[in-house]
Amino acid sequence: MEKTLVLIKPDAFGKGHAGAILKLYEDAGFKIVAAKVMQMTEPLAAKHYVEHIGRPYYPALVEFMTSAPLMALVLGGDGVIKKVRELNGATNPAEAADGTVRKLFAEDKTKNAVHASDSPESAAREIPIFFSAAEMFD
Ligand code: PPS
Repeated sequence: MEKTLVLIKPDAFGKGHAGAILKLYEDAGFKIVAAKVMQMTEPLAAKHYVEHIGRPYYPALVEFMTSAPLMALVLGGDGVIKKVRELNGATNPAEAADGTVRKLFAEDKTKNAVHASDSPESAAREIPIFFSAAEMFD
């Protein structure tokens, strides 16, 4: 089964939108393979966002992602990587399509409600950062 890593970020999780976001994914036919509530540490953020280290927005991104609990998920299903990116909408919520998670719940490019792996290679790299094999149920 194809799998993707999703993070319901501290903004959306803290505002109580996790249930609504999970419903969008489940209604699209995807299975929750793993889930946990956790708080990111700086080392974990550096591992997950390694491609972004050095970008101007990186310090604010890490400050935000480590600021409060989030929900980490692995979702599974046919075409889940591409489809969840579509359901999430554009990184910048001002450009996100109607009905997408970011149109509904995001504030700006940092507080943008959700993260999802952008390719099979990213999913394969990101999932083990958050979950062991024993924590996944597919
Ligand atoms: S982009 O627009 O193509 O650079 O976006 P992307 O590479 O998909 O993801 C960038 C991640 O960094 C977070 N972030 C920002 N991106 C761009 N500009 C600013 N100012 C910014 N601040 C934070 C953005 O939310 C993406 O996080 P993830 O968790 O990958 O969605």
